[in-house]
Amino acid sequence: MVSLPSGFDGRTVPSVPGRRLLRPDFIWGVSTSSYQIEGAAREDGRGPSVWDGFSHEPGRIANGDTGDDACDHYHRYGEDIALMRDLGVGAYRFSIAWPRVLPEGRGAVNEAGIAFYDRLVDGLLAAGIEPWVCLYHWDLPQALQDRGGWAHRDSVSWFADYTRLMASRLGDRVKRFATFNEPGVFTLFGYAFRWHPPAVDDPSQHHAAIHHVNLAHGAAIDVLRAYLPGASLGTICNMQPVRPVDPTDQDRAAAALLDEYWNRAFADPQVRGTYPQALAGRIAPFVQEGDMERIRRPIDWLGINHYSPIYARADATSRLGFAWSDAPAGVPRSPIGWQIDPEAFRDTLLDACDRYRLPIYVTENGAGAEETGDATGVVDDVERIAYLSCYIDALEEAVMLGADVRGYFVWSLLDNFEWGAGYANRFGLVRVDYPTQRRIPKASARWYRATIAAQVRGSVP
Ligand code: FCB
Repeated sequence: MVSLPSGFDGRTVPSVPGRRLLRPDFIWGVSTSSYQIEGAAREDGRGPSVWDGFSHEPGRIANGDTGDDACDHYHRYGEDIALMRDLGVGAYRFSIAWPRVLPEGRGAVNEAGIAFYDRLVDGLLAAGIEPWVCLYHWDLPQALQDRGGWAHRDSVSWFADYTRLMASRLGDRVKRFATFNEPGVFTLFGYAFRWHPPAVDDPSQHHAAIHHVNLAHGAAIDVLRAYLPGASLGTICNMQPVRPVDPTDQDRAAAALLDEYWNRAFADPQVRGTYPQALAGRIAPFVQEGDMERIRRPIDWLGINHYSPIYARADATSRLGFAWSDAPAGVPRSPIGWQIDPEAFRDTLLDACDRYRLPIYVTENGAGAEETGDATGVVDDVERIAYLSCYIDALEEAVMLGADVRGYFVWSLLDNFEWGAGYANRFGLVRVDYPTQRRIPKASARWYRATIAAQVRGSVP
């Protein structure tokens, strides 16, 4: 049984456990994404993405923040690789900004953009860190949105062509590719809740987008297999138990439906070849003969992003019939209000192993906070350490109970642009002082380094 460790009183730092019962080749990593860290939004020929326009619309993002400069990783990637080397991570998961390499989304290649990813990959390999490339972390080229975006069936071939480009340019050095990050989030938030671009509430576009993203995944897997037969390919899904906020029949039904949109709409067709029950009828108008075979292509692993359980309540005013809800009062929460429930993480891993029968990598897990450093910028983030510690305990417990989990990536290496919350929510192991772009490792960075060292070398340094 996993319990909350001492750090949640805000004082005592959980100790670093000794060697864990994990595979000797278990991968410890960190994750980021392009729009959240790169900055240089208008440099060297990068085209606009949907997030550029959206973040500049008044009222969309807390404090009017945008990703224009973010962590300036585009220029400071060398320093960021050095930070990762200090952590001792074996792998770095990042995403490619599609409009940086194809400013119009298709057609003319921006060689300066490709050169950036070349430098990044070369730097990682020189530091002994394996690059894990995610092809899509939400920054669709605006030019493609103007043609209909994911609601247009042509998006499947746009994505396949973009994948071919990246496979041909990076595939000599990159051996791990994921197609999409959390499609359950960007489709629901973009086409129903209007919290993300394209910020519409339109059932037809929503269900078309779900299906086209699934087809684009399948098409990309085919391209990657053809170009890079030895590569290890996966998909990255958010998976979190969905709970009714009240134990009423209405809220239970709301939770069951949100569960399909959030947890099942992508992994089910991609791995099992079928849409979940309630969604199947809604998506049927967009399904053509042979599509389910096009979507279900063999993959090598499933990436799972998990932070906390989520809550739903019935809402007759929403076209989906459900609304997002905060966790009920009284549950343990992280500093930004997300429930802390390591047992839900353990159970999510066990359920996913059972349902999908694939090796699992936890491609995101971490804790957000609205932190300020001390006078020198140092952050003693005891609560983050406590969170990571009990979640890694839960992962280990899932493994002991039979789950095939092969790696764990902390979200995130750096504080960064946290979508609608802007820069106020910080998830980094390393603090970013935005005015100076100074990087200051937090206490959690030292803890994670010791955790990795204990696992990899069997001793705490
Ligand atoms: C996930 C996203 C990631 C980050 C974390 C906190 O849903 O994939 O970009 O924002 O949440």
